Amino acid sequence: VPWRAVALTLFPDMFPGSLGQSLAGQALEDGRWSLETVDIRGFARDKHRTVDDTPSGGGAGMVMRPDVVDLAVRDVRSRLGGDVPLIYMTPRGRPLSQNRVRELAEGPGVAVLCGRYEGVDQRVLDAHNVEEISIGDYVLSGGEVAALVLMDACVRLIPGVMGSDQSHAEESFEEGLLEYPLYTRPQEWEGRTVPDVLLSGHHANIRAWRREQAEAITRERRPDLWLAFNAAPEKSGCEEN
Ligand code: ADE
Repeated sequence: VPWRAVALTLFPDMFPGSLGQSLAGQALEDGRWSLETVDIRGFARDKHRTVDDTPSGGGAGMVMRPDVVDLAVRDVRSRLGGDVPLIYMTPRGRPLSQNRVRELAEGPGVAVLCGRYEGVDQRVLDAHNVEEISIGDYVLSGGEVAALVLMDACVRLIPGVMGSDQSHAEESFEEGLLEYPLYTRPQEWEGRTVPDVLLSGHHANIRAWRREQAEAITRERRPDLWLAFNAAPEKSGCEEN
């Protein structure tokens, strides 16, 4: 059974039938995962297919109705079963981490609820025990792009999708550090050279240099990661959850 992604959305067209030549797109064509959209508007009951209403207590914008979202969630749950986590993309959610991505990729898939307008009535999120996830401290116009980010991060970890398994263990967040800088040929380009150590063939020196670079760049750019790394240096995959 391939890894299964379902997006509950008011804008199913934002999830392309094909993801093109990208890694996730190739994996989709190869049948390593499936992507299904569920149009929330299809569960509106009135003649105008209303999905939103004004916020209780007043304020700007509109809120997605709990009864309509509930019907969409029930429909998805009845077809996927209870083992597929239901996730709501929102800047109010817990920050997405590589650890959570790894767990989700190892599971059967994800059902992702995408909010529009100001968001979804809290009662339907509480009623279904929805996991709220943010992809960063900025506000998108809806959860669809965030859902695609989540799916992309998961899909590249599905066994057989990425070129080599080594490339995971070595990369940035799996170690809790940002990645060292990369170089390739030509050895000299526009007066800029590839660092000598990388051409030395001395693998221990290369490893040590890359480690220094990774630590320096992490200290400089991400004091938060640097602190966490130094708090738990022996653990691997130790970025904050
Ligand atoms: N929807 C709108 N902004 C978002 C964000 N930063 N993360 C997840 N979902 C969102």
